[in-house]
Amino acid sequence: MTDQTLLAPASALAPAPTKKVFVKTYGCQMNVYDSDRMTDALAKDGYVATDNAEDADLVLLNTCHIREKAAEKVYSALGRLRDLKKRKAGEGREMMIGVAGCVAQAEGDEILRRAPAVDLVIGPQTYHRLPEALKRVGRGERVLETDYAIEDKFEHLPAPDKAKTRARGVTAFLTVQEGCDKFCTFCVVPYTRGSEVSRPMAQIVAEAEKLVSAGVREITLLGQNVNAWHGTVTTGGEGLGALLQRLSQIEGLARLRYTTSHPRDMDDSLIEAHRTLPALMPYLHLPVQSGSDRILKAMNRRHTAAEYVALVERIRRAQPDLALSGDFIVGFPGETDADFEDTLSLVRSIGYAQAFSFKYSTRPGTPGADLKDQVPEDVKAKRLETLQALLLEQQRAFNESCIGRTIDLLLEKPGRMPGQLIGRSPWLQSVNVDAKGVEIGDIIRVRITAAGPNSLFADVVDD
Ligand code: 5AD
Ligand code: SF4
Repeated sequence: MTDQTLLAPASALAPAPTKKVFVKTYGCQMNVYDSDRMTDALAKDGYVATDNAEDADLVLLNTCHIREKAAEKVYSALGRLRDLKKRKAGEGREMMIGVAGCVAQAEGDEILRRAPAVDLVIGPQTYHRLPEALKRVGRGERVLETDYAIEDKFEHLPAPDKAKTRARGVTAFLTVQEGCDKFCTFCVVPYTRGSEVSRPMAQIVAEAEKLVSAGVREITLLGQNVNAWHGTVTTGGEGLGALLQRLSQIEGLARLRYTTSHPRDMDDSLIEAHRTLPALMPYLHLPVQSGSDRILKAMNRRHTAAEYVALVERIRRAQPDLALSGDFIVGFPGETDADFEDTLSLVRSIGYAQAFSFKYSTRPGTPGADLKDQVPEDVKAKRLETLQALLLEQQRAFNESCIGRTIDLLLEKPGRMPGQLIGRSPWLQSVNVDAKGVEIGDIIRVRITAAGPNSLFADVVDD
């Protein structure tokens, strides 16, 4: 103990009182990752996480702006929180409300104007400034923190301790890249998350090693445009293939995944990684959005349907066991029945194991918003229904094709029935298995015995 602490007043020595933070996450996995990192940043100030807004001193909404509905959800949640804040104030309990994420970045001023109960608005580039921003709120300010930070936020965001990492599970997300320079004409991401920034390889490796030493077995590398990752080298040199290669050398790290990719950035070394790295799971999320060249052009995707199909063929030659997943938008402005038919044909020719499909949603500030020929809602709805029926059929077919196969299963959590565990297949499906003498985090050999639309069932295979 130093002289200084001996002389410190008793209040300075007492542990900070525990405060509770409730973080509600909307949107993509990158927000899930960010929510954890914000929680970690607040731990230093004595905050512990709670899953209940009722007993929280701070509620943070980590928001998504990708489609109109996602943004609307935030405003209705804020209405409910305003009422809760008022009731708590009547009971002499204070509650701060913060809005983070992409809606915060895009509509910060408007949030403060429309929702007077909000104390803090903070954009994705400045999460490391969250503790400081809360101090300002404590001094009675309403804070708007959405400037792009010049400092590297990842260097300033504390990593969680081992116990917390392990409590979050045996799989983890790791953001390696943020932002996007592609400017698809429907998408807000280049505006909300800014231009592409890659984290340096050494920083990523250090974070991955920390996760693994805490018991994580599978890491999913994240980025809005993850395969544009280029480390600190801007042209040539490092690419995602090299990063995966490096990470696969970490002892104890059994599985690697990455998402979301752009077809234009699937370079040779990344395709080669699918051929040569056993830790890289045979699953790829490769959005195409549309099967019509006319619409792909209007979307500024910068590839044709045939180029996408040829690319998938190349990747499948490198990894024949590959399960493919994708994103689709129906009803982009100008999309005709014939364009939509092209999308259905592309889906039929690829065969997806899983997919996400959406009605086009006009996003203010994007070039798509100014296009004439917006497609009527009922047409979008009908097309979405048709596409989703086809994609669901393909998902079922893929799941059924797994019956009888023996696979490695990473055990993630207990199942609903006693003795039952839930794990992940290499193709990301949930698999239920009855197993004894095993632990969460083990990888066991199982044989798939049955398949539902969303999950599989398996028996343990004796070695
Ligand atoms: N409308 C509908 N879907 C969109 N997406 C992105 N922007 C929009 C939009 N304006 C979808 C794309 C993307 C996924 C993350 O969300 O399919 O790949
Ligand atoms: Fe949006 Fe296109 Fe960038 Fe993906 S690649 S984040 S869809 S602009």
